[in-house]
Amino acid sequence: MGSSENSGTAKDSEDVDSLDNLLWWQKASIYQVLIQSFQDTNGDGKGDIRGIMERLDYFVALGVDVIWISPIYESPMCDMGYDISDYRKVNPIFGTMEDMELLVQETHNRGLKIILDIALNHTADTHEWFQTSRRARKNPRLGKRDWYFWSPGKLDEQGKQVPPNNWESTFSGSTWEFDEEAGEFYLQDLHIFGKNQPDLNWDCEEVRQELYSVLRFWLDKGIDGFRLDTMNLVSKTSAFPDAPISKCGSTWQPANYLFANGPHIHEYLQEMHEQVFAHYDVVTLAEMSCGVTPCQALQYTSKHKPRPEVNLIIQFQHVELDCQDGDKWMLREWELPELKRVIAEWQETLVNNGGWNTVWMENHDQPRGISRFTTNTPRFRALCAKLLALWQFTLQGTNLIFQGQELGMVNPDTFSEDMNRDIETIQYWNEACENASSGEADKLDLAKKAIIQKGRDNTRIPFPWTDDPHGGFCEPTAKPWIPAFNHESEWCGIHQQRCPESVWTFYQSMITLRKSNPTLYHGTFEALDLDNPLIWAYKRESKHACYLTVLNFSPGATSWSYVDHGVDLSLRKMLISNHQTCEATSTPDIILLRPFEGRLYQLSCNSQ
Ligand code: GLC
Ligand code: CA
Repeated sequence: MGSSENSGTAKDSEDVDSLDNLLWWQKASIYQVLIQSFQDTNGDGKGDIRGIMERLDYFVALGVDVIWISPIYESPMCDMGYDISDYRKVNPIFGTMEDMELLVQETHNRGLKIILDIALNHTADTHEWFQTSRRARKNPRLGKRDWYFWSPGKLDEQGKQVPPNNWESTFSGSTWEFDEEAGEFYLQDLHIFGKNQPDLNWDCEEVRQELYSVLRFWLDKGIDGFRLDTMNLVSKTSAFPDAPISKCGSTWQPANYLFANGPHIHEYLQEMHEQVFAHYDVVTLAEMSCGVTPCQALQYTSKHKPRPEVNLIIQFQHVELDCQDGDKWMLREWELPELKRVIAEWQETLVNNGGWNTVWMENHDQPRGISRFTTNTPRFRALCAKLLALWQFTLQGTNLIFQGQELGMVNPDTFSEDMNRDIETIQYWNEACENASSGEADKLDLAKKAIIQKGRDNTRIPFPWTDDPHGGFCEPTAKPWIPAFNHESEWCGIHQQRCPESVWTFYQSMITLRKSNPTLYHGTFEALDLDNPLIWAYKRESKHACYLTVLNFSPGATSWSYVDHGVDLSLRKMLISNHQTCEATSTPDIILLRPFEGRLYQLSCNSQ
């Protein structure tokens, strides 16, 4: 069955209720493995392919269906392998091609699927394609002249060559870098690591064909799909106009909408689907950076489209609430109703219009969900971890779990300059230090706070398997590439697997419970009491079943008057709760909830 079958034309009302129409990736829980921090087997302090292989039974025990592996290709590793220098080679840090082939086979032997992470928007500047392209600017016979975006720029008042427009890169500075060898500027909208990640020119047919062939190369090895990095950036506005001035006093202006969701994006994704993915039973999980709305998401994923594009997208609206004007490092206070509204809009728009959500709360670029959405207070840690699991696993869509989430990992909550490994964090910290030396010392504390809360290293620390040194991630004598966080033994993986009350066991229960209550992944979504600042409540329903999720997102006991919100609890059955003791007494009209208590009820169904 090809993923093209996703393009059926049956009406939603029939589809939503028909489990038979669902594809494997719609029912799946996908587990993201950041290979470098997962399990080291050769003592170099970096996780590797053999390490994942050794832990395959762990995924089976947890109950997930798919593992997503962060980039394993040859790379200078300036951006954790998202800077690829050869798409067809395995990075020797992680192992060999034989190791990868064996991993695919062993994953399948256990009934699991495996997807690879790949960046097609840009390469590393050490990629042979870029090296040739830069030389070809002056010597066209070499070929690949237009595989990247080149421009002579323009001359400023002093006659100096400057970038062709005022676009600000996603991180800082201009999106254009000058290349001495080519004598021209090249475009790189992400600009995470200075000159390291030039953007590929998807308007050039040869580039697209070459990338499709790379995708086939891996699909033919039997993998089950891809997580496609920054996929909505691959079509840019070709004329490169200046962005309007929205940042007074700055040379470089935000231009996200000029390089995200560009003019040919749907055409290219449809072509990629037709030429590649339609021929395999695989999933495409596309990261959509720089902003995508629920309506745009429908254009990318709707099953009603005559020409399918991708199956799933990763969107960021719910994790951008703590940013000021889209600036990740400018912290903003937010209220629960804002988060509830964002989620409700995504849930409703996609469920009601033939789309499909992905549900996630943390990953290798984002801090831990517990620290971000609830509290870092140690005594609430397990409760909050379970509360968030209840939330995530009772929403519509495909669930993504990031390694360590199932252990209730939290942000380390410390800062020390020599612990920074992430290039984005290092660049930001260096800039803050420069500004501080020119008289903005107070800003340094803000920068520290921002890194503690938002830095990407928060989730990149080694996975704590045991209470051995370095959490059993590597040999006690080895030096992990990033220091492990000192977890108490009750939080490590092996201990939690044996403990019936652990966060891990709760995740295992939620994954199983979701499988046996499929309305949870495909049913409709109805938000209740959206303005309530403490309680998050919603109903999920299909013609087979109806559920109520009630979550207390506050550290105090509180009550919720369900009758006021049209909920009939007379024939309820509590399926699961994050409190071990039995349900707190409730009056006939009111549910009483303890601090961070969450419950899932099955209700009697209207249509039954
Ligand atoms: C994606 C990746 C991130 C990387 C960026 C550039 O957002 O998730 O880790 O830095 O793309 O490739
Ligand atoms: Ca290793």
